Amino acid sequence: MAQINTDILTAKHFLETENLVGIPTETVYGLAANALNENAVAKIFEVKERPTFDPLIVHTHSLASVYKFVETINPKLLLLAQTFWPGPLTLLLPKKNIIPNLVTAGLNRVGVRVPNHPLTLQLLKQLSFPLAAPSANPFGYISPTTAKHVQQQLGNKIPYILEGGNCSVGLESTIVGEENNEIIIYRLGGLSVTDIETIVGKVTLQLNQSSNPNAPGQLKSHYAPKKIFYITNLDELAQQFENKKLGIICFGEYSTSYRKCVIKNLSPTQNLNEAAINLFNFMRELDESDVDLIVCNYLPQHGLGLAINDRLKRAAAL
Ligand code: TXA
Ligand code: MG
Repeated sequence: MAQINTDILTAKHFLETENLVGIPTETVYGLAANALNENAVAKIFEVKERPTFDPLIVHTHSLASVYKFVETINPKLLLLAQTFWPGPLTLLLPKKNIIPNLVTAGLNRVGVRVPNHPLTLQLLKQLSFPLAAPSANPFGYISPTTAKHVQQQLGNKIPYILEGGNCSVGLESTIVGEENNEIIIYRLGGLSVTDIETIVGKVTLQLNQSSNPNAPGQLKSHYAPKKIFYITNLDELAQQFENKKLGIICFGEYSTSYRKCVIKNLSPTQNLNEAAINLFNFMRELDESDVDLIVCNYLPQHGLGLAINDRLKRAAAL
């Protein structure tokens, strides 16, 4: 099993010798490898059982260091980087040859981000290379928000997990790029559309829903528990699921006369940040419990609610 600890030098040692390390970020835990070393990167795909047409995000410690890996940064994207890094923002930028094609699945752009976690930032500063890191879960499953989640699912395949506590955002980064001078959001995430539009004005959403997307983070069924997951009107539950034990994910004040259930409240006070932090954790807990199926309602469609609803939809494969 992987060792879980806070020792940066041990993490550094494993990464320098082509091994994988679980790393904390503010969004979700990542499964990291030397992004400039194809052998190391190949191990990520192997361990995650991830198809190689799904590109990886490259993590680095500063905006200044990004120029080693990309040809140029569009002025509006630069403004976003200056405003929100370190933070839950990934930029798609034209890559230099130093980034292996395996990282970008052969695409011309590389996804880059500066994560906002003190341990991982320290680690990145001590390394002479950036880290390619997808979320540290088996392909298609719920993303991990604690070191223990990583241990449970990938612990027997990697040597080390850097312990960085609970993720403070809980949703993956928002992915942004530019086409024909238009700013495009490709994946909703921990940075809201409103936050982005405040800096660069109106953006276009290009969230691929098809089963053959450019980027599988956008696949219809993704971030999914193993149990049946329904999005439904919670008030009508009793009639719909007679005799089943339900895992109910709710938001705001909620009570039910339905007896056979486990209730998980994303945020009793309807705070969307709190809901984001709890979402994957609750999905995972219910998936591992004895409930027959998991049900939830959509959250309000603003701020982080948009990204949370996107994850719910994909978990339910709608
Ligand atoms: O918050 C996050 O972004 C986390 C932490 C670990 O940083 N990482 C993460 O990685 O969510 P992953 O691999 O689970 O999702 C990355 C997604 C891909 O599935 C794809 O949709 C998109 O990012 N992506 C990455 N590079 C891309 C590229 N060059 N072009 C288009 N999409 C890309
Ligand atoms: Mg992922």
